[in-house]
Amino acid sequence: MTDPAAPFDLTLVPEGLRALDLEALAAEYGTPLFVYDEDHLRARCCEYGRHFGSENVAYASKAFLCRAMARLVAEEGLGLDVATGGELHVALNAGFPAERLLFHGNNKSDAEIAAARDAGVAAVVGDSDDELERLERLGYRGRVLVRVTPGVEAHTHEYIETGTERSKFGFSFATGAALAAVERVVRSERLAFGGLHCHIGSQVYRLDSYGKAATVMGEVALECERATGVGVPVLDLGGGLGARYLAGDPAPSIAEYARVLHDALPDQRIAVEPGRSIAAAAAITVYRVGTVKAVPGVTTYVAVDGGMSDNPRPVLYGAGYEAYLPDRVDAPRPLTASVAGKHCEQGDVVVPDAHLPVDVAPGDLLVTPVTGAYGYSMASNYNKVPRPAVLFVRGGEARVVIRRETADDLTRLDLD
Ligand code: LLP
Repeated sequence: MTDPAAPFDLTLVPEGLRALDLEALAAEYGTPLFVYDEDHLRARCCEYGRHFGSENVAYASKAFLCRAMARLVAEEGLGLDVATGGELHVALNAGFPAERLLFHGNNKSDAEIAAARDAGVAAVVGDSDDELERLERLGYRGRVLVRVTPGVEAHTHEYIETGTERSKFGFSFATGAALAAVERVVRSERLAFGGLHCHIGSQVYRLDSYGKAATVMGEVALECERATGVGVPVLDLGGGLGARYLAGDPAPSIAEYARVLHDALPDQRIAVEPGRSIAAAAAITVYRVGTVKAVPGVTTYVAVDGGMSDNPRPVLYGAGYEAYLPDRVDAPRPLTASVAGKHCEQGDVVVPDAHLPVDVAPGDLLVTPVTGAYGYSMASNYNKVPRPAVLFVRGGEARVVIRRETADDLTRLDLD
């Protein structure tokens, strides 16, 4: 157990952001503010490429996507996983090469299938019989990976566990549905069989779950080959590798993760779709403290100028974060406080039990690290709070890649 009063562990902040003058950035761009270390993002992409081969890695854009991010991923040579027409649109709008796009989704609309078809995506991940039928009918002629439910528990929050038999995604191996789907794609005169896919869940620390999933997928592949006489070109094992949010979190390295997968499937081409493990640790969120309210016998509320609208993860999944005051990083943190947002809900908490210096006060900047994945991408305008700006920092220089929403943006869709 780490001493809760100990100073903040700066290793949770990417190197390129540690020496930044956050007060200056906050003065120029306002708060809340997402700040990404571009070199960190690039290094994570490279590391995945080194361990799997960049042609076998598709960054899962749901974790964080904007044009700058799509371009960065393209420059690093990875593919991109898009799961909706919206993500497809942003990727294409950024100039991302369509032949490196993987199109996902458990309920693709006709319009989305048509958009993927017209763009010429590398592959579609087939998720249901309805969809296979529609892919054929709508004239999609590309590769189809069949998504398999391997029946493996990921040991993560149930909302983000996707590989069990209860899942809404994919075809069950246990019931024979997966094999039937593969046979259908292989027999199709229009579709090209691209391989098998599975994704057991997200924010997964247990490498043994990946080992199990890989082993099951190896068996599925053998079974498919036996039944169809056709080889499985690739086994895409999805994403999900967990990030280190708290200093003591046991996040495995990309190297350890790759070793488990390759050991389980030594003779197979393996692909992966990491999102969080590329983007999460690359960014911090900078807030301004507005009020500090001690409620005797309860807690001290330290209220910041954002909350569940820029980071809904604590509310949705009970996710934990660290918090620190950047102008006194080395200070002891004996105060246990509840970092609350500004939304009209008691549950709007960013960090329920943050360790902070006792002199935390209105006007302080407060930072939550490891907010690069599923923060901005799940941000909302709840309470008509404008969404924050997003900065990319490289070599100490910041550039705005997504501007802050303005009050005018809050009515731009209103027609009356
Ligand atoms: N591939 C597929 C098919 C997925 O569904 C996902 C995530 C990924 C890859 C990327 O997973 P990652 O490497 O980022 O864990 N909003 C939740 C996470 C939802 C993940 C959904 N699918 C959260 O904030 O924890």
